Amino acid sequence: MRTQICIIGGGPSGLLLGQLLHLGGIDTVILERRTRTHVLSRIRAGVLEHGLVSLMREAGVAERLDREGFVHDGAIIASPQGQTRIDFDRLTGKSVIVYGQTEVTRDLYAARDRVGAPVIHETEDVTIHGADGDAPFVTYRKDGQDHRIDCDFIAGCDGFHGVSRQTIPASVRREYEKVYPFGWLGVLSETPPVHDELIYAASPRGFALCSMRNANLSRYYVQCPLTDRVEDWSDQAFWTELRRRLPPEVAERLITGPSIEKSIAPLRSFVTEPMRWGRLFLCGDAAHIVPPTGAKGLNTAASDVHYLYRGLCQWYEDHDAKGIDDYSAKAVLRIWKAERFSWWMTNLLHHFPEQSDFDIKMRDADLAYLRDSDAAQHSLAENYVGLPF
Ligand code: APR
Ligand code: PHB
Repeated sequence: MRTQICIIGGGPSGLLLGQLLHLGGIDTVILERRTRTHVLSRIRAGVLEHGLVSLMREAGVAERLDREGFVHDGAIIASPQGQTRIDFDRLTGKSVIVYGQTEVTRDLYAARDRVGAPVIHETEDVTIHGADGDAPFVTYRKDGQDHRIDCDFIAGCDGFHGVSRQTIPASVRREYEKVYPFGWLGVLSETPPVHDELIYAASPRGFALCSMRNANLSRYYVQCPLTDRVEDWSDQAFWTELRRRLPPEVAERLITGPSIEKSIAPLRSFVTEPMRWGRLFLCGDAAHIVPPTGAKGLNTAASDVHYLYRGLCQWYEDHDAKGIDDYSAKAVLRIWKAERFSWWMTNLLHHFPEQSDFDIKMRDADLAYLRDSDAAQHSLAENYVGLPF
């Protein structure tokens, strides 16, 4: 088989890139290790920056998002000293849309089916060959048969545990990582959200987040030790702990119910540079990971897709390599700003087991500065709604 772009990974990055390239008249094949059912079973954050929303609209896949997504003009930062509403609209003139990432992925798969472009599921042993040459190709096995796809370029959209990043020689890659000393225990419940905007709560007992998917589907998180296991947490224990970390007037309003999904996720900051090696481009989680505190995971994947899509169109339309040659430097510049914001929000809101009394005073001063300063709130707001692509 031959195609122009072989995309490895059928998550949001690979699907959005594939959709945009298709609209640009560029042929792609997507190779996905898992079944579609498995991909669509993943529960992920659901805050879409205005840049991602614009890209989804450009890709022609935003109809349901625009109909069912919740426009949020602000969010609450809560602590024992009080609640501060960050007014995105007043401070930046922009908003975010709350819409589950699973729904984004579902809409992208539906679009891929509509245009009849191939996604090959349950591929095994995907291997990248000749990325540092002029004739790259990808091999994989499916149903016991070996296959080969010759292509012009390879887009590594295969996430943190994928094969693409590892294909770049260790001598070429520079990796930066910070692993946080806690995790997030998340619960999905068919209950009305406790508030119509997200509440990020810092408390001496640890971080908590109140989010939502729709008017009767809520998503809550509490920070937990890395040693905790999901089976250690009954629903009752979760709700009790969540209430203890929220402002009393919020805790009183909380409507609880049985968890329909419960999981613990680790928190990590990670970046690999460069995001290009010859004919291979890394995109999304394959190149970078953020702690979920700033809801930047999908949104940084979106700016990668934006830059790579435009660079590849420039190459095929004008045989101008500037866009693809600039891709890595341009993508990394925005990624590090998102990494900084996600790291800062994580330090602002979490209890770190080893932190000193001085560290706690610095965090409390940061929260106080946020409460008292429009400039501090503006800084948080412009990062949260999304810095320019
Ligand atoms: N071959 C084929 N597919 C693979 C391989 C492989 N060797 N390794 C991984 N994959 C697939 C995974 O099964 C997954 O469906 O690549 C896809 C990568 O998708 P994501 O991990 O969701 O990454 P990405 O598409 O970049 O989306 C980033 O998803 O993880 C969240 O928080 C993250 O919001 C961010 C968004
Ligand atoms: C979520 O709704 O799952 C969510 C929202 C905002 C975050 C993280 C997760 O920062």
